[in-house]
Amino acid sequence: MTLPAEKLGGAILTTTSKLDLQEIIGDWKAQNLKIGLVPTMGALHEGHLSLIKIALENSDRVVVTIFVNPTQFAPHEDFDIYPRKEAQDIAKLEESGAHLVYIPAASEIYPDGPASTLKAGPAAQGLESDFRPHFFDGVATVVHRLFEHAQPDIAVFGEKDFQQLQVIKEMVKTQDMPVKIISAPIMRDEHGLALASRNVYLSEEGLQIARQLNKVLSEATETGNIEAAKTKVLETGFDKIDYIEKRWNRILAAAWIGKTRLIDNMEI
Ligand code: PAJ
Repeated sequence: MTLPAEKLGGAILTTTSKLDLQEIIGDWKAQNLKIGLVPTMGALHEGHLSLIKIALENSDRVVVTIFVNPTQFAPHEDFDIYPRKEAQDIAKLEESGAHLVYIPAASEIYPDGPASTLKAGPAAQGLESDFRPHFFDGVATVVHRLFEHAQPDIAVFGEKDFQQLQVIKEMVKTQDMPVKIISAPIMRDEHGLALASRNVYLSEEGLQIARQLNKVLSEATETGNIEAAKTKVLETGFDKIDYIEKRWNRILAAAWIGKTRLIDNMEI
């Protein structure tokens, strides 16, 4: 049984149960407190923590969700090896100021088994969808269900996944959900590499290559030369480019180093 936040002297509440979650949030809502939600797949880094900070600035109680969502992975993708670091994540969340962590069992999100029941809208066309065709239906489905469970007033998503952010904004509109989507800038390491849970897959050599991507993108925002950017990305040691494209006044990229896929984007 979960205790109300106030009884735990500031320690973060953790629950795997939708009912517990709704009881706690219902209690907060009864006190007119504004609920902020930060959905994640865990393996938390400074990028995730920056979203929590923004949520804390824009709401009274911040709920973080950790759920590695099966429907957004294709069978050949990295669902089984995706980094799962629950104990470390909870330790980081204790420090973050967030109030509650929801780590739902798969059966809470998918009582009828893992399947996407929502179709992502027009923003999902092209880019990621050309290479991960089922990805955004899975994202739209899980985010919709997390919103249904937590009924947040605001939710924070990173510009790191810029197309995902557009898909979620669109979903909220078409589904008429009363939640405000707030976007967060991309957090980078000291070499400009966009922080990502999947960066742990990289070897030391891979990391050096990965750190060049932002430099090439930055140059492309100046020159507008996408073809030159593609050539440079391959020259720096990337093995394969899925796309480098202009959209939404940004240059968006996805490329591979061995079995690791990196994405990044920059405003023009
Ligand atoms: P995940 O990759 O864990 O990312 C959770 C949130 O953190 C997303 O909104 C993402 O854009 C943001 N984020 C990740 N890296 C960031 C960085 N370097 N700077 C700023 N924000 C960053 O995205 C997902 O999980 C899932 O698709 C999810 C939305 C949870 C649905 O399953």
